[in-house]
Amino acid sequence: MCGIVGYVGQKKALPILLNSLKALEYRGYDSAGIAYIKDKDIHIIKKQGKIKNLEQSLSIDEDTYMGIGHTRWATHGIPNEINAHPHKVGKITLVHNGIIENYEELRQELVKDGYTFKGETDTEVVAALIDKIYQKKHDMLKTLDKVTNKLEGTYAFGIICEDYPDTIYAIRKDSPLIIGVKDKDYFIASDVPAILNYTREYYLLEQGEVAVLNNTCTFYMKGQEINKELKSFEGDSSSVSKNGYDHFMMKEMMEEPDVLHKTVHHMKEESFTFMNYQSIDIVACGSAYHTGLVGKYLIEQYADIPVNVEVASEYRYKKFFPKKNHLVIVISQSGETADTLAALKLAKENNLDTLGIVNVKESSIAREADRVIYTMAGPEIAVATTKAYLAQVTTLSLLALKTAYEKNLMKKDEYEEILHSFDVGAVKIGKLLNKDYEKQAKKIYKKNDLFYLGRGLDYALAMEGSLKLKEISYLHSEAYASGELKHGTISLVEDGTPVISVMIDDHIRSKSVSNNKEVRARGGYVIAISNTELPNDSYDDLILIPQINDFVNPIMALIPMQMISYYVAKMRGCDIDKPKNLAKSVTVE
Ligand code: AGP
Repeated sequence: MCGIVGYVGQKKALPILLNSLKALEYRGYDSAGIAYIKDKDIHIIKKQGKIKNLEQSLSIDEDTYMGIGHTRWATHGIPNEINAHPHKVGKITLVHNGIIENYEELRQELVKDGYTFKGETDTEVVAALIDKIYQKKHDMLKTLDKVTNKLEGTYAFGIICEDYPDTIYAIRKDSPLIIGVKDKDYFIASDVPAILNYTREYYLLEQGEVAVLNNTCTFYMKGQEINKELKSFEGDSSSVSKNGYDHFMMKEMMEEPDVLHKTVHHMKEESFTFMNYQSIDIVACGSAYHTGLVGKYLIEQYADIPVNVEVASEYRYKKFFPKKNHLVIVISQSGETADTLAALKLAKENNLDTLGIVNVKESSIAREADRVIYTMAGPEIAVATTKAYLAQVTTLSLLALKTAYEKNLMKKDEYEEILHSFDVGAVKIGKLLNKDYEKQAKKIYKKNDLFYLGRGLDYALAMEGSLKLKEISYLHSEAYASGELKHGTISLVEDGTPVISVMIDDHIRSKSVSNNKEVRARGGYVIAISNTELPNDSYDDLILIPQINDFVNPIMALIPMQMISYYVAKMRGCDIDKPKNLAKSVTVE
C-alpha cells in the first residue's frame, strides 16, 4: 500500500528519497513521485508505473537538501500521473497513506470556496483543506490541529508548506509513520526498511502528534512540545537485501528452518496459553486467515476449545455476540492491516480479551492488543508471505500444544516429544526446500486453471497453497474441499487440468484417495502432497514429505506449495516479489 518517505538534512536529498522509496517497493504501488525544495521553490515530479520511470526523470545530483516522496497504490482514481502524489494546492504540498472517508463532502465545501482540483484523489482535497486553514491561521501547528479534527478516515501525511521551505511536517492516524534520526539528518517513512541504509534510530509517531523536522526534530501534542522515546531497530539489516537470491521470496523461504527454530525457542519462553478460555475467535485476512484455519483444527482437536475463524473484513461489520471467557485472536504479519485492526478495536470495545499474533514490532495491532505474541520471522519483503505464515502456523500450533498439556489432555512424555519434534522439523524442512519442484511447475505453468484439494486440516492448507499460487503467478486457482468437488466444480476438470491434492491428515486420507481417483477418471492431472505412500492409481505425481505429527506436519506441507508457486510464477515471467495490484501492508479497508 502507499509508501511515504521524506528527508531533510545535510546531504543531497534526491538519492536518499529514491533509495528510500525503492526500499518500500515491496508494499505495492502503481505510481511514484517526489517533491523537493530547491532555492526555496518547490519542484514536483511524478510518474506512472515503476520507480525507475521516476528515476529517469530526475537529475539525481540536484542541489536540494529536503523533500518528500511517495509510492501510490490507487484507491481514489486511476493510477496516472495526475493522481500520483505529491499533491500541491496553494502553499501546501503533501503525500498521504490511508483513506479520507469524508473527502467528497470536504471537496464540495472547498469548491464553494473557489478551490479547483486536477485529479480524483482524497489527498488533493486534504492539501486544499490544509491550505485553506493555513491561509487564515498562518501557523502550521494550529492548522494541523484543526485539520485533524475535520478528517474522517485513516492517514499518515508528510507535508511541506511553501512559507517554511526547510521544514517537513508529519501527522498520522491509523496509518503508520516513523521519524528516523541520524546526527542532523531527519527522515520520515512508512516503515523501517526505508531508512535502514541511513539510520537504525527512530521515533514512532503516535496518533495526534505532530513531528516538525528541519535542522532539528521536535514533536508536539495539541500545540505543546513533548519528549519521545528514541527507538532502535534491532533486526538484521541483511533481511532487507536479497543476499544473492534472485527474489526476496526465495530468500525468505530459505530462511524458514531458522524461523522455525527461533519461533519454537521464543514460544518455549512464552507463558500465555488458552487455559482460561472456553471459546475463541480468530480474525485475520488472507494468508493470516488461513493460519487461523490450521489453528482451529489443532486447538479444537487437542486443546478442546471451539474456535470460530473469520476474515476481518466480514467480522468487523457483523452482529457481535460477546461471550464470557472468550478470547479474540488477531493474526497479522504487518500489524497494520486496516480490517484486522478494526476487528481488534471492536473486540476491545466489547470488553473481550484480545491476543495479537504479529510479526512487525510495535505495529498498530501489536500496540493495540491486550497481549501480543511476536512471530519470529524477521522483516518479510516479498508481498507473498512465506516465512511469516510459517511462523504464524508454528505459533498457533505451539499454543494449542501447550494448552492441551496444561489442561491435562496430553501426557508429559507426549508433550515433550512433540515439542522436540519441531526442531526435527526444522532440519527436515531444510531438506524439503532443496528438493526439485520445477518438474511440477512445468506441468502447471502453461495452464489457465488449477484446483487445490484437501479435507479438514488439508483443506486449510490447500487454501493457502491456492492463494500463494494465484497471487504471484496470476494463474487462476481454486481451493476446494475434496468431498465438495463433485457437487458442481468437477465439471471444470478436463484433460490435463492440474489438481494439487494435499493429503497429510491421516484420519481422512482414504477419502481423499477416492476423490483423487474421481478427478483422474475425468482426465485431471493429480499432484499429491502426502506424508505416506499412496495407491498408484490415486495420483500422477507424488511429492512425499516427512511424517512427524499433527503439529509439525502442516509446516512440512507448506514448503512444496510455496516452492511450486514460486517456480510457476518464474516460468510465467511474473514479478514474483511485487505482484501486480497487490500490497504488502493493506492499510485501507
Ligand atoms: C499473503 O501472501 C498475502 N499477500 C495477503 O493475503 C496477506 O496475508 C494479508 O493481506 C494479510 O496481511 P497481514 O498478515 O499483514 O495482516
